Amino acid sequence: MSSSSTPPFEPMSSDKLEAFGVHHITKGLGRIKGGIMAKGEGSYVVYEDGQRLLDFTCGIGVTSLGHVNPHVSQAAADQCLKLVHSQCSISLHEPYIRLIERLLPIMPDPSLDSFFFWNSGSEAVEAAIKMARVFTGKQNIICMQGGYHGRTFGAMALTRSKTIYSQGFAPLMPGVFTTSFPYWHQSGFQPSTSTHTLTQQALYQLDLLFSQQTAPSDTAAIIIEPVLGEGGYVPAPPEFLHGLRERCDKHGIMLIVDEVQSGFGRTGNYFAIEESGVRPDILVIAKGLANGFPLSGVISRKEVTDKLKPGSMGGTYAGNAVSCAAAVAVADVFREENILANVQARSTELFSALNALKYDPNLRPHILDVRGRGLMVGVEFASPPPPSSPANMASRVAARCIEKGMLILTTSVYQVIRFIPPLNVSKADLAKGSQIFAEAVREVVKEG
Ligand SMILES: Cc1ncc(COP(=O)(O)O)c(C=O)c1O
Repeated sequence: MSSSSTPPFEPMSSDKLEAFGVHHITKGLGRIKGGIMAKGEGSYVVYEDGQRLLDFTCGIGVTSLGHVNPHVSQAAADQCLKLVHSQCSISLHEPYIRLIERLLPIMPDPSLDSFFFWNSGSEAVEAAIKMARVFTGKQNIICMQGGYHGRTFGAMALTRSKTIYSQGFAPLMPGVFTTSFPYWHQSGFQPSTSTHTLTQQALYQLDLLFSQQTAPSDTAAIIIEPVLGEGGYVPAPPEFLHGLRERCDKHGIMLIVDEVQSGFGRTGNYFAIEESGVRPDILVIAKGLANGFPLSGVISRKEVTDKLKPGSMGGTYAGNAVSCAAAVAVADVFREENILANVQARSTELFSALNALKYDPNLRPHILDVRGRGLMVGVEFASPPPPSSPANMASRVAARCIEKGMLILTTSVYQVIRFIPPLNVSKADLAKGSQIFAEAVREVVKEG
């Protein structure tokens, strides 16, 4: 055999694939379930061995219009046969511009009129940091305790939800400061503490940060998720968001609103920030935007983006044509199928099922909190557990749900389960998911 010939290749049999994958895929990835996912069908996924599971993870908030949504997949398939890659530094392509045409009218503030599409949420966060630094001529960034912004170096430096994301990877990007998020658990309060008290406490800490750690004249931006995602599915009170906006206006600091997880209908509005009416200087979006095709976006006002030198933003795959075509279809499905109305109706049903569980006398000490917006809902179990509560309840309940036929995720360092069902989930499937969860909770409590 000459050294330039291709070695013979025989694909291995399917039954060996999983073990081969587990052996050769980096250990740095965690997984909640074994097996090989083979197919997606709306609110369900099917595994190679035939198991069919209700998917209340949506691939962490991505497949919001259901797996393999026919309109979205068709739009992507059509685009695949037309133009796959044009490269943003070479030429415009039509789906990029069509997407802006769809997004402009739904922006949470009319000032948000200048777009840049990238691939992942982390990359979009990196772009937002760069933009804030260029526009303000300042360096420091303030992030929230419990916040999550991604795994790349800049985004990781702003991440405060779990140490696993940065442990061993130092030195991190300098110039990052952390302030309190108004979440009772992080401040040692009770779940019943009023949002006003929590907000005042958090704003007080922020003002201290300005006078003790990072002067406003050195601070470029404050970054916040309007609903803490990886930090526990905790909505930021509108009063807190207004407090941030006031301080940003006063000191010439940019407010970066990261809606990677909370955006695109997840909370019942197109964007979670709409509830407060607060204007972001920079909005970061991804996940549900293209229903599974890699796409993120950074949106600001033209006054800001006009300060950027051509070529300072970009990336080989940024704003890929197939992903943009998929996102155009997502936006059209949202309008044509009135997805927001479904989110609101199913949200009411989900909250009512979970609150019934919370106030069930047999479960009462174990469920501390049911919270969220729309179909971004968290259930927090007692942690640390009172003497009669089971330990590690969230991961045990999630594992039990999987056994019973539903994928569901935990979140944060606390005992929290997060519901991220498809935004077009049917009434029957939502009821089924709630029922599976209730049975799982009861069984885990019984086992102790
Ligand atoms: C709020 C938020 N920001 C940023 C990211 C990072 O996005 P990606 O994983 O696409 O890089 C995530 C991912 O979960 C997120 O939830």
